Amino acid sequence: MPVRSGPVGDPNRELLGLARSIAVEAAELAAKRRAEGVTVAASKSSAEDIVTFADREVEAFIRSSLLAARPNDGFLGEESTESASAGTSGLTWVVDPIDGTVNYLYGIPAYNVSIAVVEGEADPETWHALAGCVVNPAIGEVFTATDARGAFLGDTALHVNPASDLSQALVATGFAYSAEVRARQGLVLSKLLPQVRDIRRIGAAALDLCYVAAGRYDAYFERGLKPWDHAAGALIAREAGAHVGGFDGSPVTADFGLAAEPVLAARLEAIVADLFREAGL
Ligand code: IPD
Ligand code: CA
Repeated sequence: MPVRSGPVGDPNRELLGLARSIAVEAAELAAKRRAEGVTVAASKSSAEDIVTFADREVEAFIRSSLLAARPNDGFLGEESTESASAGTSGLTWVVDPIDGTVNYLYGIPAYNVSIAVVEGEADPETWHALAGCVVNPAIGEVFTATDARGAFLGDTALHVNPASDLSQALVATGFAYSAEVRARQGLVLSKLLPQVRDIRRIGAAALDLCYVAAGRYDAYFERGLKPWDHAAGALIAREAGAHVGGFDGSPVTADFGLAAEPVLAARLEAIVADLFREAGL
């Protein structure tokens, strides 16, 4: 996989180098376990919301690697929320060991390891993301970004697509694990689909955000994102020129997250906000 650790002179170059090297190794471990055969360890919020033994193993690897390198930093990981730690350095690592777990289970090559480091606590409403890395080992892609220094796929700088009419926009989204929420999301999509070029649902939020950064989608929105789903990907999309936020200028929250070129983002947000209200979301 391409190697890159941030531009010379970047104050967050070292943090990115660490995030990148651990994410690449963790992604190789995930891919190895995938090749050996994946087993579901448990279900979480619903029967569809699963965790595999590999999710846990990969998170443990990432956590111990970070602890060895930076013992004073905080940590929040999807599979160990009960033992999240605040740290004393003022920096917190936010980790999804395998984003796109259902794709991982089925062997669909669209899953990733996502690692971000933020200034502040593990709260997307207040944190300031410094560096992020998203690695999809199935196709060997490494997305990176550091604060105010741009976003990259390997060594190639990323830029969002220019503004387009909504009717020409390829829009990605995701669905909740709750059947009741999904029914409402279906109502939103039935009204949105006739107004856009088409809809994509790849099943990995961090890749959705990176794909906006790379111009593979024009926009992405989702209700129900967790901090680890978007910590790295949101920085990558923002550094590629996207507006990334929730409703009405707020940061991304569990209620809503949207990423797109800023003019398109405003157009889409206005429509989606109305559709969410109508659907009771
Ligand atoms: C999920 C995926 C999915 C998104 C969900 C996430 P997981 O993460 O990113 O695309 O729709 O909101 O929870 O469970 O695969 O790590
Ligand atoms: Ca996950």
